[in-house]
Amino acid sequence: MREAMVTAPVGDDVFGDDPTVISLERHVAGLFGHEAALFTPSGTMANQIALQLVVPRGGELLAGGDAHVVTYELGAAAALGGISTRTWPDVGAALDVERIAAMIRPAGYPSVPTRAIAVEQTHNLGGGAVISLETLRGLRTVADEAGVALHCDGARIWHAHIADGVPLDVYGRIFDTLSVCLSKGLGAPVGSLVVGSAEKIAEARLIRKRLGGGMRQVGILAAAGRHALDHHLARLTVDHARAGRLAEALEPFGVVEAAQVRTNLVPLDLSEAKLDAPTLAAAAAERGVLIAAMLPRTARLVTHLDLSDEDVEQAASVLGELLS
Ligand SMILES: Cc1ncc(COP(=O)(O)O)c(C=O)c1O
Repeated sequence: MREAMVTAPVGDDVFGDDPTVISLERHVAGLFGHEAALFTPSGTMANQIALQLVVPRGGELLAGGDAHVVTYELGAAAALGGISTRTWPDVGAALDVERIAAMIRPAGYPSVPTRAIAVEQTHNLGGGAVISLETLRGLRTVADEAGVALHCDGARIWHAHIADGVPLDVYGRIFDTLSVCLSKGLGAPVGSLVVGSAEKIAEARLIRKRLGGGMRQVGILAAAGRHALDHHLARLTVDHARAGRLAEALEPFGVVEAAQVRTNLVPLDLSEAKLDAPTLAAAAAERGVLIAAMLPRTARLVTHLDLSDEDVEQAASVLGELLS
C-alpha cells in the first residue's frame, strides 16, 4: 500500500484533475452500479454530504436510534444540514419495514415532511449484523411508494457483501446514495466515498467544498484506497472467521452469542459481567489487547488485517481470564 501511495500520479482534486482520485471514484461508482462517486476524507463527511443531498433543509430523516448518523456524528445532520431526525428503536439488523413505513410523514400536512430513510450496513452498534437483501428490497418498495429517498451508511458494506454473498451492485442499486469507507475493515489509512447519480455527485462536490473537504494532491490517499479494495476485500473472510473464533471462545462467559457474530465485530454484553466495559478495556490494554468500551456495559472487539491467528488466541485467553 505504501508503495502504491509513493508511485501514484497526482493532480489537484479541487480542480477535478487528480488522475488517481478520478480512477478510484469511477471504479467505486462502477462497483455499486451507480454513475458517479466522490472521495471524502471521512465516513462522517460522506454521510453528511449524502444526507444533505437527499434531505432539504427543514426536511426529516428517519433512521435507527443507534445509527452512526444519529449517535456518533455529533448532531451534524441538524447542525450542518438543518435536518430534523426521527428514529425507530434499533435492534441491529432486524428492521421492521412496516413500522418504518408507518413513520413516514407525507408532505402537504402541518408536520415535518419525511424526505429520506437511512440504514446502516453492516450495523455497528448491532454488532456487525447484516441487514438481509429481502429487508432492504422491502424498504426500497416503501421508499418508492412514499416518494422518499433511501441512503445507506455502508461504512462496512464490504463485510455484508462477503458475509451474505450479495454483489455490491445489487446493494448499490437499492439506494439513492451510499457512503462507503476504505479506512475500516479494508485497511486504508483514510478515505470514504459518496456514491450516487452523476447529478447528485456534482452537487456533492460543492457540499464537500463547503464543508472544507476539498483536497489537493490527494491521489496518494486514493491510491491507498484502491490498493485496499484490490487486495483486502476478499480476505475479509479471514477477519470474519477470526471474529467467530473470538465469539466462540467468549460465549461460555455469557457475554456474547457466537451464532450472532457474522462479520468482523464482536459485541460484548457485560451487563452480567464482573467488570464494566471501561475497566475491562483498561485491564486488557495492560495485557496488550486493545478493545473498545462503547457504552458502560458494552464493549466491542474488531478483527482486522493486522492480526494473526496467534493474536486472536492471545486476545481470547486474556479476555477469558479477565471475565472469569
Ligand atoms: C457505521 C459507521 N458509519 C460512519 C462512520 C464514520 O467514519 P469516520 O470515522 O471515517 O468519520 C463510522 C465510524 O466508525 C461507522 O462505524
